[in-house]
Amino acid sequence: MAKAKQPPIPAEMLPKHIAFIMDGNGRWAKKRGLPRTAGHTEGARTFKKIVRYCKDIGIENITFYAFSTENWKRPDEEVSAIMNLMREYLVEVRRYMTENTRLIVLGDKSGFSPDLRQGFAAIEEDTKHFTEMTLNLAVNYGARHEMTGAVRQLAQQVQAGTLAPEDITEDTISQALYTKELPDVDLMIRPSGEYRLSNFLLWQSAYAELYFCDTLWPDFSPKDLDAALIAYAQRNRRFGGV
Ligand code: IPE
Ligand code: IPE
Ligand code: MG
Repeated sequence: MAKAKQPPIPAEMLPKHIAFIMDGNGRWAKKRGLPRTAGHTEGARTFKKIVRYCKDIGIENITFYAFSTENWKRPDEEVSAIMNLMREYLVEVRRYMTENTRLIVLGDKSGFSPDLRQGFAAIEEDTKHFTEMTLNLAVNYGARHEMTGAVRQLAQQVQAGTLAPEDITEDTISQALYTKELPDVDLMIRPSGEYRLSNFLLWQSAYAELYFCDTLWPDFSPKDLDAALIAYAQRNRRFGGV
């Protein structure tokens, strides 16, 4: 299908899965003398812009880290402002339903209020047959929490006698993760000048190309994504080979 926009690299070189760590909202607000929550609001706008751009250039799978299992440590008012933004994300994502876009929530939904839990479940159900792009929202997500859950699930199957320990493979483990229907991450982008993964998609990013930039997430633009894609296209991915 013809793409709405020409990607900055040949289409066949595009990553199949891009993960974004949406970081730097608080610093963006602080620089302007605004409350941190204003940074989150602006960050949500950037999310919309970047989803749209990814769709236009033909990226098939995109994942956004919106709230980590560790982010509950933040002050109550910041957490509740972020939860309200989640409600807006849900409304926003509904718009993509007409655009053949599937939404998958990566994370422990049991941590959310009933309205959000139902909202997330409903949109996953309503979009599950869409195939052009998969938009994944990582909320209450932590890679260690995810892997702990997977181990527990497999242990229960072993205990029930439905799985033999020797039948546990890398594939079995992948299939027990939230990302079971997704390809591995090809490109992991972290803005805001931090050089760490902060417990994001550790299993799925084993061979991801990492791209860091200083832009704070609310300022992250399609141009920054182009720069990341151009850098990605120049990497030599060996996967352990020669
Ligand atoms: C990322 O921005 C958003 C969330 C973690 C929810 P931050 O709020 O971490 O912004 P900084 O890192 O404090 O600037
Ligand atoms: C990572 O950012 C989590 C999200 C962007 C949702 P943090 O701001 O929480 O990460 P640290 O604390 O700098 O590692
Ligand atoms: Mg941060």
